[in-house]
Amino acid sequence: MTHSTPSDPHVDPSVSRREMVAALGGLGAFGVLTTLAGAAQPQTGVAPAVPGRNPAGAAELAQVGWDAPKGEFTLPPLPYPADALEPAIDKATMELHHDKHHKAYVDGANKALRELAKIRDGGDAALIKFFSRELNFHASGHVNHTLFWNCMAPAGPGPGRGGGGEPAGKLAEAIARDFGSYAKFADHFKKAAVQVEGSGWAWLLYHPAFNKLFVTQGEKQQDMTIQGATPLMGVDVWEHAYYLKYQNKRADYVEAFMTVVNWPGVGQRFERMSG
Ligand SMILES: [Fe+2]
Repeated sequence: MTHSTPSDPHVDPSVSRREMVAALGGLGAFGVLTTLAGAAQPQTGVAPAVPGRNPAGAAELAQVGWDAPKGEFTLPPLPYPADALEPAIDKATMELHHDKHHKAYVDGANKALRELAKIRDGGDAALIKFFSRELNFHASGHVNHTLFWNCMAPAGPGPGRGGGGEPAGKLAEAIARDFGSYAKFADHFKKAAVQVEGSGWAWLLYHPAFNKLFVTQGEKQQDMTIQGATPLMGVDVWEHAYYLKYQNKRADYVEAFMTVVNWPGVGQRFERMSG
């Protein structure tokens, strides 16, 4: 498909960014954009450069899949090699999921932005509803997947690693406060993921208004959430996320996902949102 360029008269970066924020607002996902940048940084040592609630700069937005000068979404690279999470997540699934499925969300979101811009320039206003829904779906899919890659990490010490185990620090304290224990949280989260009807996600959400964590389900990419809550961690339970390796055994895939959760990164995200 053809991508817009900076000279494309249909792309107004400032307007496109407003649309992006509006499209992602339902998931509280703009908070993700301001916090994900740090998740890709080394998990041991240096604090992230982007404070919790400040708007992300151009470099950070590019890192999470937004090209500010062009006013379009971009596919960020995986934060680790495609085989880094073997055997929990196999290389073939990772490549297909990132290179094809995630890219399709990026392309779909950009098309929606372009079509809405054309409407503003005199196009058929009756299509606003259709392309608004397209933007909601595809932009949410883009954010969900960007978060998803960063929710996982290979095991072991060192930059970009630390997957598996259990959360520590303030996140561990908040999980114990809001769910009773990590074991109760994990059991709740896994069952929520397995029980998603059709295609969707299970989320660990944080709501700043209540300073509280929630586990909830999402359907498709954007349906069912708690308004204003920000996803800290989520597992993709669309069949494209697991069918090559796990076939219909979604529960086995969810168990495997829990062995590669990037708890240091999730903990950093929580502290930036709640601090
Ligand atoms: Fe997916």
